[in-house]
Amino acid sequence: MRVVILDSTEDIGAYGAGVILDGVRRGRIHTLGVATGSSPLAIYRALADQWIPALAQLKAFALDEYVGLPADDPRSYRSVIQQEVTDKLRLDPANVHVPNGCAADLDAECERYEAAMAEAGGVDLQLLGIGRNGHIGFNEPSSSLSSRTRPKTLMAATRRDNARFFPDPGDVPRHCLTQGLGTILDAAEVLLVAQGSAKAPAVRAALEGPLSSMCPASVLQLHRRATVVLDEEAAQHL
Ligand code: GLP
Repeated sequence: MRVVILDSTEDIGAYGAGVILDGVRRGRIHTLGVATGSSPLAIYRALADQWIPALAQLKAFALDEYVGLPADDPRSYRSVIQQEVTDKLRLDPANVHVPNGCAADLDAECERYEAAMAEAGGVDLQLLGIGRNGHIGFNEPSSSLSSRTRPKTLMAATRRDNARFFPDPGDVPRHCLTQGLGTILDAAEVLLVAQGSAKAPAVRAALEGPLSSMCPASVLQLHRRATVVLDEEAAQHL
């Protein structure tokens, strides 16, 4: 795993955007795996600032979605991806995929999503954040290391962490659809971003702890092309 420690959010944004722009220019990146949360926002901003027409050709697949929030709910990950990725990078909305958390048959929706990813030729670069409990996507501790896209139940700690986006903590959905750890490992390259001291224990467990489903991000130790981009605070326990 390659670990890059940078000084500021702007530097992290510039670094991530540089990796993506280089891959797009060289014809290596056609499909981007996109994450929500605050961690990747600086990368999307930097890409918008350095926008080139080839970015508009990208396909995108989201990592996860809440179950039960209508697509036009501003807290749904579909809405967040639309605002932060589709609009900023001027992608064709038809090329942007988010699992449908309101599908009547959630298992079938997850299978359909996996098939759409395969049909697109897989993800060339997957962006990731990390939860304080070591989750990636919404793969909570104890997720199977080879799991595929599926419905999951959110842990109370994750619902508390994400309550800041909802008027009432009780409004945070209890369930989600998430790419599995095995799905994430299938991406040709992954780039995980973490900032702030609250993430430091999870970062240490992911990078230096044992490979364990109790720290789902530790599965990235198995990936051949994984880069972890940190600020000093997130890197403090390494
Ligand atoms: C949510 C998302 C994750 C994200 C995590 C961390 O739980 N499902 O994909 O990595 O939050 O978010 P942040 O980057 O805001 O700390």
